[in-house]
Amino acid sequence: MEIKDIHLETVGSTNEYAKTHSSQFDPQEITCINADQQTAGYGRMQRRWHSPKDCNIYATFYFRLSLQTLHLASLAQIMTLSVSMVLIKEGLCPKIKWPNDVQLNEKKLAGVLCETRFHTDGIEIFLGIGINVNMDLDQLSLIDQPATSLSNETGHLWDRAVLLKKLQKQFAADLEKFKKEGFTPFHSQFENLLAYKGQTIRCFDGHKEWVGICHSITSDGQLNLYLANKEIHTMLSGDITKVSPG
Ligand code: BTN
Repeated sequence: MEIKDIHLETVGSTNEYAKTHSSQFDPQEITCINADQQTAGYGRMQRRWHSPKDCNIYATFYFRLSLQTLHLASLAQIMTLSVSMVLIKEGLCPKIKWPNDVQLNEKKLAGVLCETRFHTDGIEIFLGIGINVNMDLDQLSLIDQPATSLSNETGHLWDRAVLLKKLQKQFAADLEKFKKEGFTPFHSQFENLLAYKGQTIRCFDGHKEWVGICHSITSDGQLNLYLANKEIHTMLSGDITKVSPG
């Protein structure tokens, strides 16, 4: 699929922009709305996404999928893998905190937010990605969880435009594979990058908090938790935190 760029200097949120303007986008291609700054960027669970000017990547990939798409609930995980593959090619060692975060050194580097709109003839996808690229320590300290940026980890500034192009290329290839075979071909790669594997985690599924060992990923992208009663509990979505030992 071709990728068309829409670059904005300032926007409330690239996801909101895409949702407002999607009828103007070509349904046969991927439209990537990216901005230098967001004034109302948001993440999963209605959290704010800190989006200062000219230092990070804020982008929404808009495209359409068929109603028959396999493993749709795991589409955001494909983007976390695309980001991770780009970073690995740059010599870094990212981990993926299931379901949608990319980490470096156990700190959040990137987050993915997947929003959908169902129609009788297909699904509109609004796949938002925020990557902390050149954010300095002062800015990072404003984030309400341990967070990092590429410049903070590597000691040098990164070219955001070059990085976004690499991500677009990687994601376009990954999406083609996903459209044909769903999450399955990405499964082992994802499991290899899974953060906290073998460690005790808490996982909130929106109703209940589960505690168990972060065990594995199913072939369609769900998380298997190994509980104290020796049962496996499989989670389709949720928010995990590591339980510190002791
Ligand atoms: C999360 O970790 O909770 C997901 C964060 C997603 C942030 C990106 S930045 C670009 C796009 N626009 C938004 O308002 N949110 C996403």
